[in-house]
Amino acid sequence: MKYINNKLSIEKINFQKIANKFETPFYSYSYSKLKENINNFKNSFKSFSPLICFAVKSNTNLNIIKEIKKLGLGADVVSQGELMMALKAGINPNKIVFSGVGKTSNEISFAIEKKILLINAESLSEVKEINRIAKFKNRKVNIGVRLNPDTDAKTLIQISTGKKENKFGVNKSILYEIINYCNNSNNINLKCLSVHIGSQILDYKPYEKMLKTVSQILSKTDHSFEYIDLGGGMGITYSNKNKKLNYKKYNTAILRFLKIHKVKIIFEPGRSIIGNTGTLVTKIIYIKESGKKDFIILDAAMNDLMRPALYGAFHKTLPVIKSYKISKKIYEFVGPICESTDKFITLKRFQKLKEKDLIAICDVGAYGMSLSSNYNLRPKLLELLIKGSKIIVIRKRQNYKELI
Ligand code: LLP
Repeated sequence: MKYINNKLSIEKINFQKIANKFETPFYSYSYSKLKENINNFKNSFKSFSPLICFAVKSNTNLNIIKEIKKLGLGADVVSQGELMMALKAGINPNKIVFSGVGKTSNEISFAIEKKILLINAESLSEVKEINRIAKFKNRKVNIGVRLNPDTDAKTLIQISTGKKENKFGVNKSILYEIINYCNNSNNINLKCLSVHIGSQILDYKPYEKMLKTVSQILSKTDHSFEYIDLGGGMGITYSNKNKKLNYKKYNTAILRFLKIHKVKIIFEPGRSIIGNTGTLVTKIIYIKESGKKDFIILDAAMNDLMRPALYGAFHKTLPVIKSYKISKKIYEFVGPICESTDKFITLKRFQKLKEKDLIAICDVGAYGMSLSSNYNLRPKLLELLIKGSKIIVIRKRQNYKELI
């Protein structure tokens, strides 16, 4: 995204032009950025050609998943809904892994029927349930087991998953118990060891540490795993203060690991694939003065983009038309929802704004639309895919008939 003649532009079109055609608020995604992200990801790890399974939870739009499929990725899903969406997008079941701590019997049964690559189990009880269903269906099912490596991902506490106090995965001793259980089962083929230590990780060292732990665990068992699923979690640059994840160092650590363990690697990236492709375009409804501060009341709200309210997340916020007059006021960008946490950001020294101006909230491609809700009975937003100068509607705005 860049300003061309003071107009914020995406690919070959500017947001003002898009907003002339479509009512705000809406999400828009850049196709070329998506392609670039996928190519960069593939290139970073090309020496061992991993299976890259897009974490569907980060963006559940059918058309986005279709594009991702065309660019060669598989899917990581965490519910029957996501699995059905991935299949509908045409992803080969052989490239789908199913994660999650609480898969129901129906979900397990559905996944077995669809013959997906792996069901990544997260407890002994789940493994037993998979075994029971597989036996009933007279099938042999490929599974993985998720290890909790007790590694600090050094990210936000709300999105850390690899510490022993987190609900995810199993500890070493349960892992060995599960290996034993699977070796005595005719209906389960334990093929994969999986880990996912957290999200928005910008430091490669937790990954390095996690690989060491996995390596130690593997050397203490005779069981041979075909796959190691390293999860996702690669962070992106939301703010200039964020450092960049060093993919080279992560790749080197994996290559070191692969010298000892002859396995295939799976990744489950979400944010690093789709995060920086998305923009939420919103219009100022009213400006309300309040002493030194002005409330910039937008037509988008926390139900459309939860991350700031939920995690205190920072999203770069830009004017769609740039001017050079700076306001002396502090601007607090808020939505119309009846909650004080319905606030996106507070900024000083922003350009002078007026009612009806357009604002772009950046880097919302991951966990933006997918985390949105109908709170306050607000319809789900329109989603657009931008390819060059083409605007493609990839999800219509929900209408009130559907809602009521
Ligand atoms: N694999 C598993 C098992 C996961 O739980 C997750 C994310 C991923 C892969 C993808 O992680 P990514 O590459 O996107 O970091 N709503 C939060 C993020 C929650 C992430 C949950 N799990 C946010 O908006 O920051």
